[in-house]
Amino acid sequence: MNKIIKEIENRGYSIIKNFLNKKEVNNYKKLIFKHENKNRRLYKGTPARDTTDKIIYNLQNKDYKFIKLISNKIIINIAKYFLNDPFYGFLPNSKPNYILNFFNARSSGSKLDLHIDCHIPFKGKNIFMMQFVFLLEKSTKKNGCTVVVNNSHKSGKFSNRSEKKLTFLEGEPGDLIIWDSRLWHGTTANKEKKSRWAIVTTFSSWFIKQKMDMPKSIPKKIYKKCNNIEKQLLGFSSIPPKNENERINTKRGYIFPKLLGK
Ligand SMILES: [Fe+2]
Repeated sequence: MNKIIKEIENRGYSIIKNFLNKKEVNNYKKLIFKHENKNRRLYKGTPARDTTDKIIYNLQNKDYKFIKLISNKIIINIAKYFLNDPFYGFLPNSKPNYILNFFNARSSGSKLDLHIDCHIPFKGKNIFMMQFVFLLEKSTKKNGCTVVVNNSHKSGKFSNRSEKKLTFLEGEPGDLIIWDSRLWHGTTANKEKKSRWAIVTTFSSWFIKQKMDMPKSIPKKIYKKCNNIEKQLLGFSSIPPKNENERINTKRGYIFPKLLGK
């Protein structure tokens, strides 16, 4: 655990080899294929690369097993170290108070330019967003692996897209890649005609807006399986009140509203 944390702090990322075993990888692949929607609705304004990449959005709404994957103890301990608000107050500090921000499976096609995921460049030890990427297929220079710029999370700057000092994060199915969202990263182009599926998880501190409305969209049958920690992770402990008559604080403990709209 210390080694992983030190690597993320020092160079911006860490790789845990064989985080998932072969059987787990196959099971998650099966679930991905089951939920792959080949007739995705392409609305006016769909981001260009999203029209060509294979993507399954909102894995938390597809199968409870995806929530199980990211509420794993090792993952919680790493994410808690970086993203927990020490002054949260409504839960003991030993419990996670960070949240799931975005949760998709992706098999990309074209090259992705260097960028940061946290939107704001800044310096310092404290961060509010991280990525956890589970490789489900072999990831190589030729099929669109992640590229990173070591130490760039310390730059306090947006990415320099012509940076030449790149590290190629090739990996095997089952590997888990974790990075500080300030790290300059992108992908190579997938020049092979095969998929390169990975599960891409974004966690953030509780006060950052989720990219999808998870509390409103979770299916009842999945919600019912979630324990307190998982409900909190989905954002159920930090739903903004409608106004001051409802309540005046956004963050809460394990007090969950009636499932919205169900
Ligand atoms: Fe990214």
